[in-house]
Amino acid sequence: MYLFNFNPNRSTTTRPWPTKRPSSSSSSQRSPLLFITVLFCAFIFFLYYQSLSPTSLSLSSSKTPHSLQNQCRIPSPREKFLWYAPHSGFSNQLSEFKNALLMAAILNRTLIVPPILDHHAVALGSCPKFRVSAPAEIRASVWDHAVELIRSGRYVSMADIVDISSLVSSSFIRAIDFRVFASQWCNLNLEGICVNESDKQSSLLDSLKQCGSLLAGLDGSVSKCLYAVNEDCRTTVWTYKNDNEDGTLDSFQPDEQLKKKKKISYVRRRRDVYKNLGPDSEADSATLLAFGSIFTSPYKGSELYIDIHESPRDQRIQKLIEKIEFLPFVPEVISAGKRFARETIQAPFLCAQLRLLDGQFKNHWKTTLLGLKQKIESLGQSSHPTHIFVMTDLPEANWTGSYLGDLAGDSHQFKLHLLKGTDELVMQTARALAVANHGLSSGFLSKSSDGDSKIQKHCRPSTLADALLYIEETVCSCASLGFVGTLGSTIAESIELMRKFGVCSSSTRTAL
Ligand SMILES: *[C@@H]1O[C@H](CO)[C@@H](O)[C@H](O)[C@H]1NC(C)=O
Ligand SMILES: *[C@@H]1O[C@H](CO)[C@@H](O)[C@H](O)[C@H]1NC(C)=O
Ligand SMILES: *[C@@H]1O[C@H](CO)[C@@H](O)[C@H](O)[C@H]1NC(C)=O
Repeated sequence: MYLFNFNPNRSTTTRPWPTKRPSSSSSSQRSPLLFITVLFCAFIFFLYYQSLSPTSLSLSSSKTPHSLQNQCRIPSPREKFLWYAPHSGFSNQLSEFKNALLMAAILNRTLIVPPILDHHAVALGSCPKFRVSAPAEIRASVWDHAVELIRSGRYVSMADIVDISSLVSSSFIRAIDFRVFASQWCNLNLEGICVNESDKQSSLLDSLKQCGSLLAGLDGSVSKCLYAVNEDCRTTVWTYKNDNEDGTLDSFQPDEQLKKKKKISYVRRRRDVYKNLGPDSEADSATLLAFGSIFTSPYKGSELYIDIHESPRDQRIQKLIEKIEFLPFVPEVISAGKRFARETIQAPFLCAQLRLLDGQFKNHWKTTLLGLKQKIESLGQSSHPTHIFVMTDLPEANWTGSYLGDLAGDSHQFKLHLLKGTDELVMQTARALAVANHGLSSGFLSKSSDGDSKIQKHCRPSTLADALLYIEETVCSCASLGFVGTLGSTIAESIELMRKFGVCSSSTRTAL
């Protein structure tokens, strides 16, 4: 079971959200004894909260349990929402975003579009090693980080950068911006959070933090309101409409050695997401369904968490799967990348994506640079210098002594091109993204409430989005001499996908 309405470990310190007691109109017909019993229970209930309030509700002293209950209230009571907790770098977050679109469509829920998290601000751990943060934990870190992004004026929505407008307009999915959702769900006016008045701001931040812990499901699910999914890649592989598979064991299980060493007892089962979380399930009655991480990846002949690659029995989902295989960047980014290729490089070029510093990639310089060398050699000799666009995390000052240094030093044969975060093209694009504000403006839910317009007015990020990575990827999709990427890098995978879908040549994608 994964529904905890009452978690004994935590209930003594926090249980600010009472299950709603229906004010039954039929009570008058019941016996007086029952009435007295109910009255007595209510009195005990009252005492219980009296004793709780000084500690559990100290975060925002003016709030009573009743007003906390309002946090589940949203303007359209029949609308149901889906939230999840992205993690790690941008490419990971993008792949999780795609999974979230899929889950939202299958479960017919409105997807809450998250911000782009700072690189590695939230970590998941390792699924194959069964060492991951629990869903509630990761939901809480994502919420805190999102609040921090709002507070510091650095909030950039996933939909500011990735173009989902065609999915929304063709009704494949419904989406709502996290800020709009949070202000309604928490019953707070987020407008104040972006106004520089420290008193107002800090009390809002407190309330928002508290509301986040409820949403994260730190205290478990809340009847009708929140269903906190506690299955993760240690126990579950989600499937969709594969007959007779629901509940069967997955082919990948922790091996005996791991079980002994780590004292774990996980069993991984394949479970149908629609049967377990869709209509007629316990989860379906909740306004908000919250996953933890929905990261997945093929592993040892299976999938780590979501194994839904086709859907022959549901044509709507099948179409969506095809559509989300590739999600383009917004037009501002694509046109910037194309412009750099056309106006700055001005020649056929090779793209080299070299990840040399981050994590595991530190140890593979040789392989990565050898790949580049072989690619260049395969191009053969030409009388003109070979143009190469280089995107790498290794600062230019550190190139000396490596193959990159050799290339840079041989200006007769090679002409290298780089983009920097401070380049005018990048800054210009960031300004265009801020003006476009796709995340809040592309026809998302709650036009009726004035929430989003206010947020838009006051919460314009004070810091511009870092558009460098997205533009670099687009430039690489334009490299007609070829592409050489870093083995195992998710950025390289994104670029391959962009090239496969002809981002650079297609004009329809960039036209608004
Ligand atoms: C999906 O949800 C929407 C909005 O809540 C509702 O109007 C629609 O009937 C639902 N569709 C299905 C197939 O349940
Ligand atoms: C808020 O205003 C104060 C002074 O009025 C200033 O020192 C501070 O940097 C401002 N903070 C932000 C986040 O803009
Ligand atoms: C890059 O160069 C700086 C300054 O010379 C040096 O401190 C740093 O350690 C170098 N980094 C790498 C990864 O070589």
